[in-house]
Amino acid sequence: MTATPDTYRGALEAVERILNRGGDADDVLRQVVEVLHDRCDHYSWVGIYLVEDGDLVLGPWKGPQATEHVRIPIGQGICGAAAATGRTEVVDDVNADPRYLACFPSTRSEIVVPIAYEGRVVGEIDIDSDVPAAFTHDDNAFLERVATLISAHCLVGWDTGGFPWGTAE
Ligand code: SME
Repeated sequence: MTATPDTYRGALEAVERILNRGGDADDVLRQVVEVLHDRCDHYSWVGIYLVEDGDLVLGPWKGPQATEHVRIPIGQGICGAAAATGRTEVVDDVNADPRYLACFPSTRSEIVVPIAYEGRVVGEIDIDSDVPAAFTHDDNAFLERVATLISAHCLVGWDTGGFPWGTAE
């Protein structure tokens, strides 16, 4: 399951290919979530939350189970902490962190990477791992790069005509 430099390089190239192909923001984000989930074995559940009216609203996700946390106020949980500070949160042992909002019994560690656009947090990448302390400096660097690349696709209302995520046809 070990991720090597090639894992991150390959995944980053795949994300760049998706962005170069272009398309609707929601399709692009869905494909990016799929790449992260499918290429990195230690990423058990991958989701993107988007900031909407002071809350984090769940956008595309991939993993074995849906989460009940589809709307998280900024400031709550590990997700809310990362959005409030604009800094990446890495939690090696979720059960030892009092901020943790439990989603899946199998989760052992978590990383939350804010997505900023023109200095404002517009969303975040949230990844749960079933492996304790799964996230290294390589994951930080890789995911922060991905967050920068996809930031313009995370502006809610930008191509949805103002409809909440997933309701626009
Ligand atoms: N664990 C997160 C909530 C989101 S789920 O992991 C999908 C938190 O503590 O904010």
